Amino acid sequence: MNSAAPAKHAPAFTQDHVLGINHLENDDIESILQLADYYADRLDERAFRPDVLRGCVILSLFFEDSTRTRTSFEMAAKRLGADVVNIDVDSSSVKKGETLLDTVWTLQAMLRPDAIVIRHTEYGAPEYIANRVDCPVVNAGDSWREHPTQALLDALTIRRALGKIEGLKIAICGDIAHSRVASSNLQLLSRFGADLRIIAPAVLMPEKLPVDNVQKFDNMEDGLAGADIVMTIRLQKERMGKALISSDEDYFRKFGLTMDRLNIAGPNALAMDPGPFLRNVQIADDVADHPERSLILKQVRNGVPTRMAVFEKLLTRNT
Ligand code: NCD
Repeated sequence: MNSAAPAKHAPAFTQDHVLGINHLENDDIESILQLADYYADRLDERAFRPDVLRGCVILSLFFEDSTRTRTSFEMAAKRLGADVVNIDVDSSSVKKGETLLDTVWTLQAMLRPDAIVIRHTEYGAPEYIANRVDCPVVNAGDSWREHPTQALLDALTIRRALGKIEGLKIAICGDIAHSRVASSNLQLLSRFGADLRIIAPAVLMPEKLPVDNVQKFDNMEDGLAGADIVMTIRLQKERMGKALISSDEDYFRKFGLTMDRLNIAGPNALAMDPGPFLRNVQIADDVADHPERSLILKQVRNGVPTRMAVFEKLLTRNT
């Protein structure tokens, strides 16, 4: 779907915020992906800096660690001409006991942000803030539930690699139970017609999934057969109340994505991982680093144009 220009006939984008895939209509998603695709084609042109957000201020508030998500939101805003203020929560007044809302209201009074990007451990924190501020809010990951811009950039990556989502067999394997990436991806990919499977040990298989029609497997060999895409998900030990996995070695033996297993999926099957990934725990070196079969660095790269599209859609909706 490499467009030649921003699609003039792109479907309408109708949202005030981007809080979760479950809040977005398919047309909203399609309109973001079409603009993101246009920006992705031009990302390497350093001089290409559309100034559509000139004069805008983006406030970025990360209450959890992040490398790629926070950086790509920042780069996306800067490529569109906005100023970005990143608050380092670890050295902020939150540490002195200030509430989330007081922190946000204080920064809002000072900066008058045009959009707020927030990552938080608590489910619904971005929506809570969105209902109490007067600008668009983008969820950069909350709890285990939603990470909408990751699902959008994954969808862009899949469409740029294979031209479509509909009809593709996509296997998501690993710590599905604690993964907001898996949750948002399952919702988006199912709505765009993918044939979805999840593969996880019983302790990491969620009881309830956000969508129906997902096949569940407890072993890689059965779950991978015929998959076009295999997406690995990190063991999120920081979200496990107690140790659920006996050892990383044992996990890799049973659920690690090795080249042999990727070839069970198919000789052309592609590997994806949202990162950060644990080498030789969830994915083998030769799969992660494969120049054709791994899409991992493409996912990272596509984070910037996807977030450019999200900002542009939200901030130019009424102009
Ligand atoms: C993920 C996250 O933080 O939700 N990473 C990301 O945003 N690319 C996944 C993870 O932490 O494993």
